[in-house]
Amino acid sequence: MNPDFVIIAVDGGAASGKSSTSRLVAERLNLMHVDTGSHYRAVTFALIQAGVSPEDEAAVAAQLRGLPLDTQLDGRSARISLDGKVPSDDELRSDAVNAAVSPYAAVPAVRQFLFNFQRSQADVARQNNFAGLIMEGRDIGSVIFPDATLRIFLEADAATRAERRAAEGQSDSIEQRDKIDSSRKTAPLTCPEGAIKIDNSGMTLEEVVDAISNLVGTSTAGSTKN
Ligand code: C5P
Repeated sequence: MNPDFVIIAVDGGAASGKSSTSRLVAERLNLMHVDTGSHYRAVTFALIQAGVSPEDEAAVAAQLRGLPLDTQLDGRSARISLDGKVPSDDELRSDAVNAAVSPYAAVPAVRQFLFNFQRSQADVARQNNFAGLIMEGRDIGSVIFPDATLRIFLEADAATRAERRAAEGQSDSIEQRDKIDSSRKTAPLTCPEGAIKIDNSGMTLEEVVDAISNLVGTSTAGSTKN
């Protein structure tokens, strides 16, 4: 891997601060930002609209086969498009999608469908002259980029996470989603060996961004050009 191109994997449970942290680290280090939660949300939205149940894996796989994926850049943010359309934030963060996303994300066919697309985001970042990629999700450091420059696992206590969602005005069953995400068979939410855990409950966003930026500096110091 070219040491000049940085890949940061950020995993953690719902409302653990992944998105706000990743966006700011991306700005500070000139990285492209990919929120893979939005990929699962987009697929969930499409499958709900198609009336396909997460219990019917064959129907899910058949529906996904006809769904072309692409990337549209919005500043530093790489957004997923399905069949040429980027779903809106309202569509991705509706109560219906919040409630259904974890059951769909537990279906192996859904994860397989997104695997290559998510790996290919590194090429999109290179082609668009970013210094690297920061990708957030649940299995980025364990499955998608186990070879990342830096793997972070974010945590926050239950009260802090509930406050964050309330401040966003969202109704979201954080605990229920974490339970399904941690107990599924394929790519469960877990802190992979070698990842660095950061509990950000008592930290400001700025402090978390500083900590990650310093860790990137340490990980890349001493690496030589291939
Ligand atoms: O990050 P966000 O809370 O938007 O993710 C929504 C859901 O997408 C998660 O609860 C999880 O079920 C699924 N997800 C996943 N793997 C990822 C990212 C998200 O299973 N890498």
